Amino acid sequence: MNLKDLYIDFFKSKGHKQIPSAPVVPENDPSVLFNIAGMQPLIPYLMGQTHPYGTRLCNYQKCIRTVDLECVGDKTHHTFFEMLGNWSLGDYFKNESIEWSFEFLTKILKIDVNKLAITVFAGNDDIPFDEVSYNKWLSLGITKERIAKTSDDNFWIAGSSGPCGPDTEIFYWQGSKKPPVKFDTSDENWVEIWNNVFMEFNKNTDGTISELPKKNVDTGMGVERVTAILEKVDDNYLSSIWKNTIDLISKLSNLPYKGNEKSMRIIADHLRTSIFIIADPADIRPSNTEQGYILRRLIRRAIRHIKTLGIDINSNWESKLTDIIVKQYQKYYPELKQKKETIINTLKIEKEKFNKTLERGLKKFEKAIQNSHHIDGTLAFHLFDTYGFPLELTVELAKEKNIDVDIEGFKQKFMEHQEKSRTATALKFKGGLAGNQEIEIKYHTATHLLNAALKQIIGKGVHQKGSNITSERMRFDFSCDHKLTDIEKQKVEDLVNKWIDESLPVTVKEMPKDEALKTGAECMFIEKYPDIVTVYSIGDISKELCGGPHVKNTKELGKFIIKKEESSSSGVRRIKAILKGSMSSSVGGAKTHDK
Ligand code: ALA
Repeated sequence: MNLKDLYIDFFKSKGHKQIPSAPVVPENDPSVLFNIAGMQPLIPYLMGQTHPYGTRLCNYQKCIRTVDLECVGDKTHHTFFEMLGNWSLGDYFKNESIEWSFEFLTKILKIDVNKLAITVFAGNDDIPFDEVSYNKWLSLGITKERIAKTSDDNFWIAGSSGPCGPDTEIFYWQGSKKPPVKFDTSDENWVEIWNNVFMEFNKNTDGTISELPKKNVDTGMGVERVTAILEKVDDNYLSSIWKNTIDLISKLSNLPYKGNEKSMRIIADHLRTSIFIIADPADIRPSNTEQGYILRRLIRRAIRHIKTLGIDINSNWESKLTDIIVKQYQKYYPELKQKKETIINTLKIEKEKFNKTLERGLKKFEKAIQNSHHIDGTLAFHLFDTYGFPLELTVELAKEKNIDVDIEGFKQKFMEHQEKSRTATALKFKGGLAGNQEIEIKYHTATHLLNAALKQIIGKGVHQKGSNITSERMRFDFSCDHKLTDIEKQKVEDLVNKWIDESLPVTVKEMPKDEALKTGAECMFIEKYPDIVTVYSIGDISKELCGGPHVKNTKELGKFIIKKEESSSSGVRRIKAILKGSMSSSVGGAKTHDK
């Protein structure tokens, strides 16, 4: 039986309800581009909201992590993976969680207990040593020598704020020799297979830690890694998960896997991930921003390696590979079958686009490095702009030849280009603004204040869903599951006016998008952002990715009045508001550069 089925059956037998895998593109969470863990879609419930399926949940979740995209090509890295998870929402806690993990591994998967080792949370200034987990593992027969206590590695949080807590991690001995008596966490033959997080805390955006209303359990086990272990292969791509795909790539290229592993792994991994992204309800297509850019990078990097293996670019590889991958996963993810034609077409269109310039781009690259051991920013940007080479592809090509690329120079060129196109389009369209008059700029700044006020009064789960500004009024749509009460409306209005009275400065910084998101800057999910973004801050109450423009100081806004609060669509509310008696303004934000 398949690992996923065994896992779900086991946790169902322990009273869990299976919940569906959520889309890979988060539906209401602009803090990440893709779901990176099974818990991501469950954040509201871990924070205390009641889940319709109850307090014991389990599933397999499609996840995408792109931080290690460039590492794909070795034996263990993947951009897409499936995570098995079971959750307690204020139900069972450490003892049951550990007991069931142990039972599943040793009784169902029949893993030799002598090949297991454990880490537990050693404690820090704020949170004590996790004695309960430590004693539980001892009671199950894990020896003291096989339990390591660490602090830094045994506290889990997705990103910089949100539900979190100490965890206990289970490791498996993958070495060819007998496992040592003592667990040395730095020995790479021990690989982590399962993480049980005891989420009893919330890390607030100001860095402080508070207790959650309930004590939860969040666990995660990687399907790819555990399958490789169960099948006793030391290269994940040799497991049954990849067999059909690798065999097909081998057939298409007429080459064996051995000796061509790197290119074959990249093609297999990147196309699988691309297929899942394209099939997602968010309808992501290759582009130069956000998820679309990741998709473009994945497809183009795969195509580069398809070329490296000598596969005819005009053969029908995209259709054949999609066929194999969809067949393998359709039982678990029916959307793949439904969207199969779209997937193939999207891959074909992107292939055709890239294929037109790929050859010439590669020639340009080869020529440039004949006389130089350096790719400057201008050339890297030229390869990007004219030949469609994602920067990362140029860096990878250069690395293979031991040549460096001026990444900062590229970013500089990129920004100059953005600036030019921004100016050119400024009068036509600006982040939801219909024109460029003074009052509309004020409404735009008021929108940021309203967004921040709603988050403080209604809750962190509020996100911008849309905005429309005329010279008469502003309209703001946001996610919220209820009609605002009169008291809530008053509080929101008062808070915005308080900030206006406080004369808060509006500042703007340009920085790489990843960095901006790390600082906790808000961004409206459906807007498209380039790699280098502008972040507007109002005092320390609001920080948003935004094209501007804005006023220089909130005191210019006058009085903020909510005129109407109504439903916009399911789960989305709409506020219409006006500004009264505002003073004359100046377009603001002293510009600084952030490297
Ligand atoms: N959320 C935890 C992880 O991803 C289980 O490791």
